[in-house]
Amino acid sequence: MKTFYNIFVILIVAMTLASCGGAEQDTKAPESADKHEGSAPQAGTGSYDPKRGEGKFTLANLALSDKLDPVMAKAGEATTEVKCSPCHKLTDEKLVGPGWKGVTTRRAPDWIMNFITNPDPMIDKDPAVQAMLEMCMVRMPNQSLSDKEARDLLEFMRKNDGLK
Ligand code: HEC
Repeated sequence: MKTFYNIFVILIVAMTLASCGGAEQDTKAPESADKHEGSAPQAGTGSYDPKRGEGKFTLANLALSDKLDPVMAKAGEATTEVKCSPCHKLTDEKLVGPGWKGVTTRRAPDWIMNFITNPDPMIDKDPAVQAMLEMCMVRMPNQSLSDKEARDLLEFMRKNDGLK
């Protein structure tokens, strides 16, 4: 039993290192982390939808207009400067994370909202995020965004992608 335990520990350590730089010692076990979003549609059933990600946002509850809201975009730009620009450029150039140019066409709006408000379970499950993680070698930290901050950020990303 003891040997088994040792092997188990070695495996966990190896997996942590392999999944990017070992910079995330405080990572919770993915299995337990994915259950606490109890009120979210489709959460906790074991079925993961890579189109919308995991979290409380859906296309229906976002109800996006196809016109830009400039006030929201402005607020989103301000939040970007404080919380996101250390790692993201507005061009397609990678900094720590991928550049934002084109992100609103690469990803669905509900996916973006779920990822930026709830990155951890998606880093553990989402194939697109895992591909980015392999490139970037850093897990995007949870920025504790309020729903409004997140929504304003999405509006700024839409503006950055040319929505008027
Ligand atoms: C410490 C660096 C860091 C900070 C700060 C950060 N990110 Fe990220 N972000 C990343 C990394 C790295 C990725 C790639 C996924 C991964 O490896 O976790 C990423 C991915 C993303 C993606 C997906 C991009 C794509 O092409 O699909 C979005 C959207 C995003 N971040 C938004 C934000 C927002 C909004 C903020 C600010 C509130 C923010 N990020 C702050 C590092 C960061």
